[in-house]
Amino acid sequence: MTVTIVGAQLGDEGKGGVVDLFGDATDVVVRYQGGDNAGHTVVAGGEEYKLSLVPSGVVRGKTGVLGNGCVINPETLFEEVDALRERGLDPDVRLAKRAHVILPFHRELDGAEEAAKADSDSEIGTTGRGIGPTYEDKIGRRGVRVGDLLNEDALRDRLEYLVEAKRAIYEDVYGFDASETDGAFDIDAIHEQCLAYADRIRDEDLAVNAGDYLADRIADGDNVMLEGAQGTSLDIDHGNFPYVTSSNPTAGYAATGSGLGPTTVGQGEIVGIIKAYLSRVGSGPMPTELDGDQAEYIREEGGEYGTVTGRPRRVGWLDMPMLRHAARANGFTGIAINHLDVLAELDEVNVGHAYERDGERIHTLPATTEAWRDCDPVMKSFDGWSAFDPAVVADAGYSALPDNAQAYVEYVEAELDTPAYVLGVGPGREESIVRQNPFE
Ligand code: GDP
Ligand code: IMO
Ligand code: MG
Repeated sequence: MTVTIVGAQLGDEGKGGVVDLFGDATDVVVRYQGGDNAGHTVVAGGEEYKLSLVPSGVVRGKTGVLGNGCVINPETLFEEVDALRERGLDPDVRLAKRAHVILPFHRELDGAEEAAKADSDSEIGTTGRGIGPTYEDKIGRRGVRVGDLLNEDALRDRLEYLVEAKRAIYEDVYGFDASETDGAFDIDAIHEQCLAYADRIRDEDLAVNAGDYLADRIADGDNVMLEGAQGTSLDIDHGNFPYVTSSNPTAGYAATGSGLGPTTVGQGEIVGIIKAYLSRVGSGPMPTELDGDQAEYIREEGGEYGTVTGRPRRVGWLDMPMLRHAARANGFTGIAINHLDVLAELDEVNVGHAYERDGERIHTLPATTEAWRDCDPVMKSFDGWSAFDPAVVADAGYSALPDNAQAYVEYVEAELDTPAYVLGVGPGREESIVRQNPFE
């Protein structure tokens, strides 16, 4: 069967930790979208692993697949794999031949577009990893795929067209000088680099026809976890465009981005990962955003600094319209609510229960960012709960969670009409209350 893990908010909800939590029952973990813009953390055995591309199941020695829906920078992938090997892991990572490749000029173009938008204060605050430009070339039918790296002549032909086109945009549209980059627009240098990637891909037998590979594993009775990156409000279709990433984290893409059919994914579980408050890296509206001492407190308690960029994350109260939207767009069969420990010791915990806009009360997300910006949150207040020992509570189970935290959890479950399978009370593998294992 499959279990799909999806971020319900704006990324960094603790998806990596939940993948690891259920990793024991999993045989293969698949990333179906995004690239090294993700930063997924697994804390196990006293070690902390921050993973950008390698699927989080690797910490438990499970096979990882980067599906066709991903964009892969071989440079950062190999660095990550080598660093994990140095730490004693043996990552078994397969790359979909249909996945697109992030090349050096994609990063340059990512930066150029952000710089151009900065003049009007409309930059997205991307991770600078070249994600958007690479998906542009995919949709524009001119990108390079993993399978192309393995065909020297086809690769050269693609690069001849692609690099020239991109150089023209970099210079003529954005006004930068390509020769001032470190060979990012040099066809010969890129070709040579790609052939070196291809050698390693061949030597380590990394490339697979991922859809067939996964279907065969499922036919053999294996369990497959689909590990979403980013989150629903960063989705290119369902998020708050244009302050989004360039792919679909939502569950429908778990099928498209892995090559498994929607019926296969739909027969499994779809677990929405929720942070008990809200965090955001990058620009865009955030009606329940906090500032001042309260924001500072939660940021420090929750360690809210970007895994990839180190930027302080914006923080706010839980936003229920955002979660109702996510539950509908993904069809969650269960949820995990993480970071309940971070909110401990506050006198009161607030949530944005609904929005008010032009005198009207609304319970889900408006479709345009401008309308969202106009929304005032209608707050609901909960009594806070005192600090507790995460390991003890995780061990003793749900009834050991303070009553007020239980009331908070039950409110979210009722509003989303979805059971909480997991309650996160700390970053470690042993610091979650598991009420249901989705594989059982
Ligand atoms: P992801 O991108 O969704 O995988 O999440 P990140 O790894 O970027 O950010 C989540 C951070 O919170 C990581 O540092 C996790 O180790 C940590 N974390 C996850 N669950 C919990 C929890 O329940 N409580 C606390 N305090 N930290 C958690
Ligand atoms: P994980 O998987 C949080 C944000 C960026 C920016 C926007 C677009 O760790 O939850 P991009 O580089 O993708 O073009 O940036 O999306 N963003 C994330 N925010 N967690 C992530 O991943 C993110 N990946 C991208 O900050 O606002
Ligand atoms: Mg993250």
